[in-house]
Formats: sequence, structure tokens, C-alpha cells
Amino acid sequence: MGRAFVYVILGGGVAAGYAALEFTRRGVSDGELCIISEEPVAPYERPALSKGFLLPEAPARLPSFHTCVGANDEKLTPKWYKEHGIELVLGTRVKSVDVRRKTLLSSTGETISYKILIIATGARALKLEEFGVEGSDAENVCYLRDLGDANRLATTIKSSSNGNAVVIGGGYIGMECAASLVINKINVTMVFPEAHCMARLFTPKIASLYEDYYRAKGVKFVKGTVLTSFEFDENKKVTAVNLKDGNQLPADLVVVGIGIRPNTSLFEGQLTIEKGGIKVNSKMQSSDSSVYAIGDVATFPVKIFGEMRRLEHVDSARKSARHAVSAIMEPEKTGEFDYLPFFYSRVFAFSWQFYGDPAGEVMHFGEYEDGKSFGAYWVKKGYLVGSFLEGGSKEDYETISKATQLKPAVTDLEALGREGLGFAQTV
Ligand code: FDA
Ligand code: NAD
Repeated sequence: MGRAFVYVILGGGVAAGYAALEFTRRGVSDGELCIISEEPVAPYERPALSKGFLLPEAPARLPSFHTCVGANDEKLTPKWYKEHGIELVLGTRVKSVDVRRKTLLSSTGETISYKILIIATGARALKLEEFGVEGSDAENVCYLRDLGDANRLATTIKSSSNGNAVVIGGGYIGMECAASLVINKINVTMVFPEAHCMARLFTPKIASLYEDYYRAKGVKFVKGTVLTSFEFDENKKVTAVNLKDGNQLPADLVVVGIGIRPNTSLFEGQLTIEKGGIKVNSKMQSSDSSVYAIGDVATFPVKIFGEMRRLEHVDSARKSARHAVSAIMEPEKTGEFDYLPFFYSRVFAFSWQFYGDPAGEVMHFGEYEDGKSFGAYWVKKGYLVGSFLEGGSKEDYETISKATQLKPAVTDLEALGREGLGFAQTV
């Protein structure tokens, strides 16, 4: 027994929501499209989980952040899917896929067949056990990938008021959760192996701006080390974190953000995998012409760098989704995916945006003070390849985005620092 659809989207996250909207705009008929997701709710804007969702006052709750509100577009509630004849199969994990037969097998035992499959399975949070540390299942150890995790974290935050939190990891989850914990009046210590936060993107100078502010808010940083084990009480709750440097930190709550792994396992041996993701071409089409991949799980050609990349950010999930649907529905009219990587974050009153590639030499500009912007340019082989800006206006961000997209030649690196935003304005 099973059902058949023309289009099946496997995964119900950000990319799935934006793909669904694009399908309806391009004219999908009732009953042609199905979304199958392990999550019990319709696609939502995942970035809300580490920000508005964790606020102590008036926290964001569904349905307010269903896709596609994050791009100031329609809000796709379960009613919207119904009205558009899209089958939402929620709370259902797909346990196997047969690419040759074009079928999926769900954990409930149902077989779903497709003509075109879009893989939008995103990624999973890496577990401490993968680094040899036991204890992830303790009730006060929190990860943050989906709504279930966010609910658990919000509950643990409530029961830890004025207590101590240890945040493991100095990346996006670590920085955004640490800020949310401070806002919830919890004492925070961040632990990470690198010399400064956000090591994948920030320079030491950029990092120091944020770290100084976090310190002023009471956050302590323990850098250059990792945790080795937990101490537990008789209820198997974590009471302290033991570090490799020999120190011990008391903990009422532990938040872990140590990176992700793309959910590719259903397709290993069936599709080509590259750089940890499902390899697709500039139409987001995999090594099987009936299967597309979008969002965090896809490794696609980033034309501006002439390289295959897998990105882990919401803008790329949204745009790769739209592009894939366009390529499926109107192949002749759809060109190559020409994507400029875009990352952003918001913590406390800070808000930064980054465009391009953090590669090559860096030139900083501006000094951050309230109301003033601060930024950096990356220059590789004589061309501008990356731009970062904190505290810019909407127009400023558009300016650095456009300039980075044009990849202008840079002859005088020092002048970039002197001209600052002015350089991008003249490109
Ligand atoms: P996503 O993870 O959104 O969705 C994958 C879906 O597939 C899930 O619904 C999952 O349950 C489902 N699935 C997986 N395997 C399945 C199976 N076998 N069967 C059925 N369903 C299955 N980015 C950014 O640019 N700015 C930001 O501020 C943030 N903030 C942020 C906060 C938090 C807490 C997280 C976790 C992430 C961010 N991100 C972000 C990253 C951004 O959210 C991420 O890049 C997108 O959600 C990726 O969208 P996808 O649809 O690819 O995966
Ligand atoms: P990340 O890759 O940003 O950071 C991982 C961090 O883990 C590293 O910076 C490092 O400090 C730390 N780390 C690695 N091994 C460790 C160890 N053994 N012990 C302690 N620390 C260790 O990943 P993340 O912060 O977990 O974020 C998960 C995903 O969510 C990413 O895809 C990210 O892009 C996404 N996300 C994005 C945003 C945003 O774009 N604003 C916000 C939240 C989450």
C-alpha cells in the first residue's frame, strides 16, 4: 500500500517551506506535492529558536515564525498547505529511500513514490559522544537543532534562573545561546578549543569586539580547552563540567553547540556525496536526474568562487530551494545558480552581516561605538572576496553585498582600511 506524488520534498525545514511556496507560485496542482517530515509541525524559520524563542518576555512561538516570514513573505501555516492542496506528512521519519525505484519508506511502514524527489533533510547536531564524552542524555544537557530541543532548552532555562550555565562551543549556537542565557539572568561560562569565538569567520579583532561586550555582560570565556567529562548527582543531572585543563565548572545547565553533520545517510551508496553533502549541479540536481538537493545537505557549485561548497545558513537554504523548484518547473528558463554566500547573526543589540568568502588578507575599518559601524574586507589574489559589517543600515548592507558580488580588483589594501564603507560605495 502506498501513495504516489509527482513531487516529494523529504524534510520539513526551512528549505522545504521555501520550496513549497515556489511550487505554488509556479503552478502546482492539488495533490501533486507532498512534504514528509520527522518534525511534528509545518516548516518554520529555524533561526528563531536561538533568538526570539528563548526570550524571557513574550517569546516567539508558532505559528508566528512559520516559513516564509523570515524573508518577509507569506506565512505558510498548516491551513495554507491544505488550501494549496499540498500533502503535509508530519511526525514521520523516512527510514529508507530507493532512488532506482523512486520510492521512500516511512517509519510507519508506508511507501511513498515520486517522479521528482527534493532532498531537504538538513543536518543534525554533533553529539559530545562523538568526541568521547558521555552524558548527552542528562536532562540539563541541551542541544539546539529543532523545536523539541528549543522547548527543552526553554524549560531548563526557566528552572535555572540565577544559576550557572556552561556553553560548550564558540560558534553560532554558542554565541547566540550565551546571549539568550544572559538575557534570562543566568551566569554563563563559554568553553571552546579555539583562541577566539566564531573562529570559522571572525578575525581576532572582530571577535574581541563581541567578547569584550559579552564580558561586560558577565560572560566568562575559557578558551583553548575542551570538556572531558561531567559530574552527575544521584538523579543523573549534571552538576559540573570537567575540563581538559584540569579545571571544573559548576553547572545547572549545559548548552552544547559543537557543529553539525548533514543528513545524507539515506543516500550513501546511491548518490554522489562531496564535502559531506549531496553533490548537485548548478540546477541543484544530484547524480540521479530525478533527485534534487537543497539547503544544508547540498554541496553545490558556488560560481563566484569557482568551487563546490556546502553552506549551513538560512539564506542559502531559501535561495537554493527556490532555484531547484524553478529548475524543475521551468528548466529552459532557469540558468545557473549564481549564489553569493550570506551569513548573519543578531546577539544583544548587535547585528552583523557577512557576504562572500572569509579568505585571503583582511583589512578592518571603522571603530565600533554605539551607533557607528565597524567592518572588514577580505582580499584574495588582488580581488575583494568577502565583506563584514556590524551595525550597518539596510542600505549599507546592500552596498557591501553588491560590491562583493562584483568582486572588484583591489590594488591598495591600506586604502581599503581608510575608505571603509566608502570603498564599497564606489565599486
Ligand atoms: P533544516 O534543518 O531546516 O530542515 C531539515 C528537515 O528535515 C527537518 O525538518 C528534519 O526533521 C527533516 N528530516 C531530516 N531527516 C529526515 C528523515 N529521515 N525523515 C523525515 N524528515 C527528516 N542560519 C542563518 O543564516 N542565520 C541564523 O540566524 C541562523 N540561526 C539558526 C539558529 C538555530 C538554532 C539553528 C539550529 C540554525 C540556525 N541557522 C541560521 C541555520 C539555518 O537554520 C539552516 O541553515 C537551515 O535551517 C537549513 O535548512 P534546511 O531545510 O536545509 O534544513
Ligand atoms: P559551528 O560550526 O558554528 O561552531 C562549532 C563550534 O564548536 C566551534 O566554533 C568550536 O568552538 C566548537 N567545538 C568543536 N569541537 C569542540 C569540542 N570538542 N569541545 C568544545 N567545543 C568544540 O556550529 P554550531 O554553533 O554548533 O552551529 C550549528 C549549526 O547551526 C551551524 O550550521 C550553524 O551555521 C547554524 N547556526 C547558524 C546561525 C547563524 O547563521 N546566525 C545561528 C545558529 C546556528
